[in-house]
Amino acid sequence: MAASLNKVGVVGLGTMGAGIAEVLARSGLDVIGVEVGDEALKRGRGHLENSTGRAVKRGKLSAEEQQAILDRITLSTSFGALSDCDLVIEAVPEQLQLKRRVFEQLDEVCRADAVLATNTSSLSVTEIAVSTNRPEQVVGVHFFNPAPVMKLVEIIHSVLTRPEALSVVQGLVERLGKVGVTVGDRAGFIANRLLFGYLNQAAAMYDAGHASREDIDAAMKATGLPMGPLTLMDLIGLDVSLEVCEAIYRETRDRRHAPAPILRQMVTAGLLGRKTGRGFYSYDEPAAAAEA
Ligand code: 3HC
Repeated sequence: MAASLNKVGVVGLGTMGAGIAEVLARSGLDVIGVEVGDEALKRGRGHLENSTGRAVKRGKLSAEEQQAILDRITLSTSFGALSDCDLVIEAVPEQLQLKRRVFEQLDEVCRADAVLATNTSSLSVTEIAVSTNRPEQVVGVHFFNPAPVMKLVEIIHSVLTRPEALSVVQGLVERLGKVGVTVGDRAGFIANRLLFGYLNQAAAMYDAGHASREDIDAAMKATGLPMGPLTLMDLIGLDVSLEVCEAIYRETRDRRHAPAPILRQMVTAGLLGRKTGRGFYSYDEPAAAAEA
């Protein structure tokens, strides 16, 4: 088992993967970011440049520091680039078969002592782990959106995870300056299990015409939360929100997590939130975008 971490891989450079790569590079680690093709890699580079560029504009980073962070991230379209990583974090879309295929490939190319981690928010870490020949070295590491800002990271162990693999990830989370909590492989882990009953109820309330989207959001924001629930679902993505509700409902049969019909309809209609420009709010409207 790798004692100290030097090089960490990230597979998938969408919003979450790019955010995770940035956080790792900011802590001084060498990062290998892998995407499936040139277009996806270009988008990943764009996420990294925009996010760090925003920090430069806000005076939180100098241009030199931004460059040093970007220089620590090597981008590749080949899994082979991950062969000498101590730890690899997978952050591809939330589809079990896709994640299992990625883990099969990681198992082939990564060092025998490397820890393999998944950033899943709704799938079973155990089901992902058993697609490898080293399920005892597979751990969940669940970052929150936006990863560079949110303090919480959930660290998930399956019944097969070795304590040494878990402590590699716990040590990493500490090094990143995040708040790490350790949890078993249960749908929704801790935070989503508590959060999504509330978010789902907000969607159902809006669907029932209980109040306007603005008033539902304003009410909860005025309680001191950083965002209202509908704005937050637009940030998370309605597809991800639906998957999380479904996963928790499947495991618990708790009706609070039976997805609100509007959530399913909006996902079917391709209204996924900020990432598609329209969810509960339209991000073509400057006022709505500013509110979000
Ligand atoms: N990427 C990187 N940094 C970002 C960012 C992003 N997407 N969005 C905001 N930031 C940074 C800004 O640069 C700024 O940094 P600074 O303080 O160093 O200058 C800081 O965050 C505050 O940003 P703003 O002033 O622009 O805006 P707000 O003060 O409104 O904060 C927010 C934006 C951080 C997104 C805040 O509204 C918030 O915390 N919202 C709640 C987010 C939340 O609950 N996330 C968890 C969702 S659940 C989840 O992810 C689990 C999954 O499994 C579904």
